[in-house]
Order: sequence, then C-alpha cells, then structure tokens
Amino acid sequence: MRKPIIAGNWKMNKTAAEAKAFAEAVKGAIPSKDIVDSVVGSPALFIQELVAEAKGTELQISAQNCYFENAGAFTGETSPAALADLGVTYVIIGHSERREYFHETDEDINKKAKAIFANGMTPILCCGESLETYEAGKTAEWIEGQITAGLSGLTDAQVSELVIAYEPIWAIGTGKSADANIADDICGVVRATVEKLYGKEVAEKVRIQYGGSVKPENIAEYLAKENVDGALVGGASLEPQSFLALLEAVK
Ligand code: G3H
Repeated sequence: MRKPIIAGNWKMNKTAAEAKAFAEAVKGAIPSKDIVDSVVGSPALFIQELVAEAKGTELQISAQNCYFENAGAFTGETSPAALADLGVTYVIIGHSERREYFHETDEDINKKAKAIFANGMTPILCCGESLETYEAGKTAEWIEGQITAGLSGLTDAQVSELVIAYEPIWAIGTGKSADANIADDICGVVRATVEKLYGKEVAEKVRIQYGGSVKPENIAEYLAKENVDGALVGGASLEPQSFLALLEAVK
C-alpha cells in the first residue's frame, strides 16, 4: 500500500508575510503522516520560516529546485546541503517550467536527483508532455524517455523512495485538467517504465502523482485511480482552505 502524497507547488508566489500567514492558518489542521504526506513547495526564500512554523506538526516543506553541487562558485544557485540543513524533506526537480524557461536537461535533473538523495532528501521528479506530443499520440514514448534519463544510475532503494509527478504541460495552470483515466494510464506508463528498469518490487513502491489543474473539486477522481498516489498542485495550493481541502480528500 503506497501512502498518498499531496504537494503544493507555490511557484514564484507569496511574500514572506503571506507564507507565514499560510503556515499559521494550516498548521493546526494537517492530517497525520500515517495517512498522507502533506507537503508545501515554497520559494527558497521562505523555507526557513516555514520549517520553523511547521515544527511539531506533520507539515513537510519542499524546495522547488536546487543545484547538484553542495557548495562553490555557482552564483544564484541553491545548495541541496543547505536545504537539508534547514529541514527540507522534498525537492521538486524537472518541473516543465524549469525545463522550458531555464533550459534544464534530463542530465541536469538526473544529477540533481542524485545530489538530493545524497543529502538525505527525496526528489519529486516531474515529467510531462507538450500538447503537440500529446496530440501526436507520442506521450508514452516521451514519458518513458524522460523517466529513463532522469533515473539513470539511481539505486533500487533510491527509486523505491522517489516521488514522480506526471504533469501534462497542456494541463498546467490552464484549468484544463487531464481526464482521470488518461492520468491513470500515463502514471501507469511511468510505473511500467520503472518496472522495466528496476523490477516489479521497486515499481510497486515508487509513488506517482498527477499534476495539472488539480483542485479540491476534482482531486478525489485522481486519487481513486490505481496508479495515482497523490497530486502536485499549483494554483489550488496557494490558499490555506483550498490546501486543507486537498488533504481532506485523502481521508
Ligand atoms: O507543479 C504544479 C503544476 O505545475 C500544476 O499547476 O495546479 O496550477 O495547474 P496547476
């Protein structure tokens, strides 16, 4: 039985005061970690404050990106070692916005996954196809390619711990969420790819989220699917009541 993981991705939103107010509003109502992993993906700026606010609660804090070296002359980058030291437990990597606007390659993402594991955190590795690829009927081969490259050289134990988020680019921030059956099918492609590379036991452990216009009104449809173990949520994770309603869907 895989434990659901619901992760908000705030992207480049909120001020420090807004982030603090969010944590204050939700921290008393986070469900037990025995039931669900409840995660907020914050801009690096607010992580320290959020970790402090979340202390003693089951709320976990994720970064939205990091570099693959722990220290050095890398102006503007965020060290995975420093994130781990702050108390971060997850790091989102390979989000389609980072691939598109910041030119991240599968190779970069793979190096980041290794660095995140090396620092005792868990990557949330994103994959997803463009509308063009979807309409050409090439989603499965695209996803298989991203997963194979992203996981290269990871161990069985690491992949068993990993979270993979399937986010069709055409469903992100568009309000046009993927049909739950399509999400389940492609999450199934992700799992089958993991099985091909690492075997059935590992494939049954890896957690796979769907992301793309998930909201309190539709999250249950996704969570009901066999291959969907949670959600990575942008817009609907920004407001405390909406975030709590997403978590509530798991119970
Ligand atoms: O990481 C989250 C996704 O990009 C989904 O964003 O829920 O606003 O569509 P969205």
